[in-house]
Amino acid sequence: MAKQTIRDIDLKGKKVLVRVDFNVPQDKKTGAISDDRRIRAALPTLQYILDQGASLILITHLGRPTGDPVADQPYRLDEVGRRLAELIGRPVVKVNDTVGPEARNAASQLKPGGIVLLENVRFNKGEKVPKIDPKTGKPDEQALALHREFAAALAALGEAYVNDAFGTCHRDEASMVALPEQFPPDCRAIGFLVEKELQILNDLLAAPKHPFVALMGGAKVSTKLGLIQNLLPRVDHLLIGGAMTYTFMLAQGRKTGASLVEPELVETAKSLLETAGAKIVLPKDVVVGKADDPSAGTQVIEFGQDIPDGWEGFDIGPATREHYAAIVRSAATVVWNGPMGRFEVKPFDEGTLAIAHALTECPGITAVGGGETAEAVEKLGAADKVSHVSTGGGAFLEALEGKQFNSLRVIPDR
Ligand code: 3PG
Repeated sequence: MAKQTIRDIDLKGKKVLVRVDFNVPQDKKTGAISDDRRIRAALPTLQYILDQGASLILITHLGRPTGDPVADQPYRLDEVGRRLAELIGRPVVKVNDTVGPEARNAASQLKPGGIVLLENVRFNKGEKVPKIDPKTGKPDEQALALHREFAAALAALGEAYVNDAFGTCHRDEASMVALPEQFPPDCRAIGFLVEKELQILNDLLAAPKHPFVALMGGAKVSTKLGLIQNLLPRVDHLLIGGAMTYTFMLAQGRKTGASLVEPELVETAKSLLETAGAKIVLPKDVVVGKADDPSAGTQVIEFGQDIPDGWEGFDIGPATREHYAAIVRSAATVVWNGPMGRFEVKPFDEGTLAIAHALTECPGITAVGGGETAEAVEKLGAADKVSHVSTGGGAFLEALEGKQFNSLRVIPDR
């Protein structure tokens, strides 16, 4: 069911609280924002709201602050506010608190067209999801009171709520769930970014065009199980890459040398292969190397052979690249999560590079998601040649696993 969007609610003249996800990567030394994609992705929503004669009160988290004010300095939002002002071409009043006097004062003085950016919402303890007390099975009462109080104080700053924070939709924090609950249904909506991400997920999960191909990489089978299980009945082919390849290799009775494996997942991998039949496509060959000794060179090992002792699998091999690229090029829908190899180290980026290239040649819908995969596609300069690069890491994965989010449940259907 489609959610109520900012087109459906009356925003004229209102102070609109917009939850965005400006959790952007920053250079550890200089604090400079190294990738502002998430800020740029929210601009259409922000501009639209301003065009309705409304003003903006922006809420976001940045990183995972610890509660120690000194250690948490890098999580302040000043740099984010500066970048937003540049990108949107208007002044942004960045305040140093979230619901304190500075925020309340800035919000009360907001005029149509004005923008206030609140300080990192995770600096406030009330943002956290209250822990469940193991004795009572209920949320800790004090934490719950704090959580509700915080949501109410945030709500008092504005007159409508918009969720455009797709990357945070899998979290139940105050600004995602308890805050929108403070507003009447006709004052809650999703923004254009969340709308677009949900549309793509729907194209992938509810009505995919066939052949539908899923490319699955990354380190561990264990973190991808939910995803594999939800996608298998929907896809025509599920191509395996990344380090999880080696657990499947182990499941086929091969030796895997020094490769990363999850022996406890071998039985699961076996039963997946049995039940999925030919749908699960394993590499034909892999590239192995020695992690501690780059001068040792690399070897290509066929998938049916053992990896020699001391050698570690780092990438899909040349025959696999060709095979996977051909399947991807002839697909009508492709979803890709997880790099094919250790793409941050040359020459083990070649598998990921080949797949990214094939994706740009696929005429169908091509969606990429998950932090590292999106980063790989960006780095390879292929981002504008695929249909969609999700702004979500965990959120994209959990949505593909079929999970329903409370943050969206609280936004009315259209
Ligand atoms: C993300 O980067 O995946 C989102 O911003 C959520 O951040 P979190 O994992 O710290 O909740």
